[in-house]
Amino acid sequence: ASHIRNNRYKVVVCRNLGPDVMPLLEERSELDLVVWPEDRACDRAWLLENIQGAAGVIVMLTDKVNPELLDKAGPSLRVVSTMSVGYEHVDLKAAAQRGLKVGYTPDVLTDAVADLSVMLALMAGRNGGIGTSVVQNGHATYRFVLKWQNYSWAPFGFCGPQLSTTAASPTRKIGFLGFGRIAQATLARLVPFGITHCLYSSNPSSPPNHARDAELSRKYNLQAVEKASVDEVARESDVLFVLAPGGADTYHLVNEALLKKMKKTSIIVNASRGTLVDSDALAKALKEGWIWGAGLDVVEGEPHVPIDHPLVKEPRCVIVPHIASATLETRRDMATRAAQNLIAAILGVQMPAQVDL
Ligand code: DGY
Repeated sequence: ASHIRNNRYKVVVCRNLGPDVMPLLEERSELDLVVWPEDRACDRAWLLENIQGAAGVIVMLTDKVNPELLDKAGPSLRVVSTMSVGYEHVDLKAAAQRGLKVGYTPDVLTDAVADLSVMLALMAGRNGGIGTSVVQNGHATYRFVLKWQNYSWAPFGFCGPQLSTTAASPTRKIGFLGFGRIAQATLARLVPFGITHCLYSSNPSSPPNHARDAELSRKYNLQAVEKASVDEVARESDVLFVLAPGGADTYHLVNEALLKKMKKTSIIVNASRGTLVDSDALAKALKEGWIWGAGLDVVEGEPHVPIDHPLVKEPRCVIVPHIASATLETRRDMATRAAQNLIAAILGVQMPAQVDL
């Protein structure tokens, strides 16, 4: 068959996976590797050319796996392995129609993403963006121009809403849009802050899990862990975490109408996909004070977000460049999992993490 060159399966790797992980692939005598040679997202033209006759491909979330690519690969293709937990860049229907297996990297990044979600909540609430900017640049603008050299400690300087409860303010409601592994790991991290309620909305097709929720509320000693409507979650939350999958079903779940329902002191954190949040609406919400602040790991249109987009300029918006899983440990584990998924599928054994198609 065309995909077996020199008795080996051709495998395309869209990004070098580094010295710890590449040997897993290189040492497999069954594989004939073609690796994108540059340290940037692989060129589409290169991928379309090299995928021809491949049995497998390891992609990143920057590589669109659509019918065009799958048809170029041809009937030799068995597996698409993405080094990410999100897979909205993979056309699952097209993959299923061609009998392909799709691998992804859940679990191994859950803790890293939950860690960063908490960091963003704190940064956004505590004026992390303005605070670091005034020190680094000597000035920052929020309502007025603040000069570092003119600033001295002030009773209410740089104040923001506190994440942890206080004696005078004993209730904290945390909301989640999407309540999967990462949301639940984020909840676990917030328990020591004294939060009291957890509200979440999730995929309408997944039924409420009362037993699990009762168990979580008992375990964490919370007054409530409850599934609610998106509107109710927006209305009630002091911090709203957006941790649901991307794709058409969740596009602009956070829009003007939802932001208008939120508390003026509330924080929104997005560590899922930029497409869930309407950037123009969020910029307006921050500018007009409908909410307090935002912490974003992902932004619509990234990495090509215009530097002068109102959201990027909004002082109460802390944006980091899609780094929620970016720890040395986690990225190595994700790359390992992506390699293992590919190898398993090629050898015809069970993949460590396969997407249900
Ligand atoms: C993913 O895995 O989907 C993240 O966005 C990157 O870690």
